[in-house]
Amino acid sequence: MKFFAVLGVLVLATMADAGVSMNNPNYCYMTDNIKSMTNMFGALTSYEAIRRFNFTTVNPYRSTCEASRFWYLGRYGTRYPHPGNFNAMINMANSNFQQDIINNYNEGRTTLCREDFEALSTWTIPPYFNIGFASMTTPSGVLAVQEIARRYQANFPGILNGTYSPDRFLFRHTWSERTTTSLRAFASGLFGVEDAQNVVYEPVPTRDWFLRPFDFCPLFDQQHGWVSVEREAFLEGPEIAEMVEQLNAKLGLTGGNRIGFQQIFTVWDWCRFETAYTFEFSDSPTGYNSTWCAAFSVAHQLLLEYTTDLYTFHTTGYGVPNQRLLENLHCGLAQDLLTHLRSDNPTDQMARIFMSYAEEIQGMLVTLGAFRDVWPFHRHNFAQHSSRHWIGSLITPFSSNLAVVRYDCDDGDNDIVFYLNERPILIPGCNQQNGVCKLSNIERIFQRFIDVDCEEFFCSDN
Ligand SMILES: *[C@@H]1O[C@H](CO)[C@@H](O)[C@H](O)[C@H]1NC(C)=O
Ligand SMILES: *[C@@H]1O[C@H](CO)[C@@H](O)[C@H](O)[C@H]1NC(C)=O
Ligand SMILES: *[C@@H]1O[C@H](CO)[C@@H](O)[C@H](O)[C@H]1NC(C)=O
Repeated sequence: MKFFAVLGVLVLATMADAGVSMNNPNYCYMTDNIKSMTNMFGALTSYEAIRRFNFTTVNPYRSTCEASRFWYLGRYGTRYPHPGNFNAMINMANSNFQQDIINNYNEGRTTLCREDFEALSTWTIPPYFNIGFASMTTPSGVLAVQEIARRYQANFPGILNGTYSPDRFLFRHTWSERTTTSLRAFASGLFGVEDAQNVVYEPVPTRDWFLRPFDFCPLFDQQHGWVSVEREAFLEGPEIAEMVEQLNAKLGLTGGNRIGFQQIFTVWDWCRFETAYTFEFSDSPTGYNSTWCAAFSVAHQLLLEYTTDLYTFHTTGYGVPNQRLLENLHCGLAQDLLTHLRSDNPTDQMARIFMSYAEEIQGMLVTLGAFRDVWPFHRHNFAQHSSRHWIGSLITPFSSNLAVVRYDCDDGDNDIVFYLNERPILIPGCNQQNGVCKLSNIERIFQRFIDVDCEEFFCSDN
């Protein structure tokens, strides 16, 4: 009997150490003052969480030429959950789930630390998590975007000075509340809330193929759809099965109280949304505490993050088999950018500012050739991708932005710098040390977008 008990402990210990995930069953969230998972929430990552982390290795070189033109493609700021996820979150919060965990802790069946238990036992649905706000921008999202605008203005005062004029600025958003509110936040960051009232926004066309190309291209839907087969397979695989076991064990959930991947994802949503709702109001590099993060170890967060990257890689990233079609979908944006960078007409606007979605930023990055990995992502190579380039948490968090700046040089071949989330990025064809591009190279590489009729071309793979 004793022998078997010892063997049992050994087997359990081996299981806990198995695989690449390095799960720590005793991980204590509340007392972790690094909280690296705040950078692992995929598309629901707070902008400030990654900004305060300084993720890039590119030397933040500034061209010595004079900044003259600015082009900006933003993703909307932090939002409330979409209705489906929101309902699942509220239902979970109103179920016996929380009380089960409290009972389990009191009966010694969990591996939760005392601090995490205390937070879980007093947690209630935050008052601002009101289903009526589903999908709308949160105050933290407005603040993040305002601050982004202020920092760009401080860096490029000659272009983004504090006086609005429609001759100098173009603003365009999509039909959704979240891009509209976020673009207004950008304008109020530049001009102040009062002067921003005067800003003229471009009308939103019904068929907005320019800012929402995916919505108007049946060919893309036919060829790819919006499912990542590799993600679905990964969810059925051994890493996720192990995580489900470990998470139930940590929370002491057995029998009919056990939870599966879908419910774990809902717990993760609570962890992510409460973090994102408050992060921008905190001065700390880790943000405020978000109680439900206590259910996970850091290894679990890495796995969950990978499920989000598998999805974007195969739906709007380098995993889309018809790359040409994905690139052409961004014809409108690419052409607008090229026209803006190439023109020397003094009556042009100096800044063109667009507010859209993560898919468009990802698609533009693919078009530019940035953040490409050597190996594709699939169900079997999570471990191989521990240091991948395509990390949605860093590339397209809430409020993410691709900004392109032209610097006028004396020799006539102007410098172009691409900034993602305010840091220079490397584009093929540009200087691979400091990220500075020459306009002549950019024109050569992207020539096919220059004179084409994008409204015809965007949904083709020519
Ligand atoms: C990030 O970079 C900024 C600017 O260089 C610096 O002031 C800040 O201390 C850095 N933060 C971290 C966490 O390294
Ligand atoms: C901003 O730039 C415009 C055009 O160059 C200029 O007329 C205006 O005085 C500038 N405003 C400030 C506050 O620098
Ligand atoms: C998070 O909770 C811990 C433990 O209760 C506490 O020490 C810490 O100050 C909290 N952090 C924040 C940002 O509130």
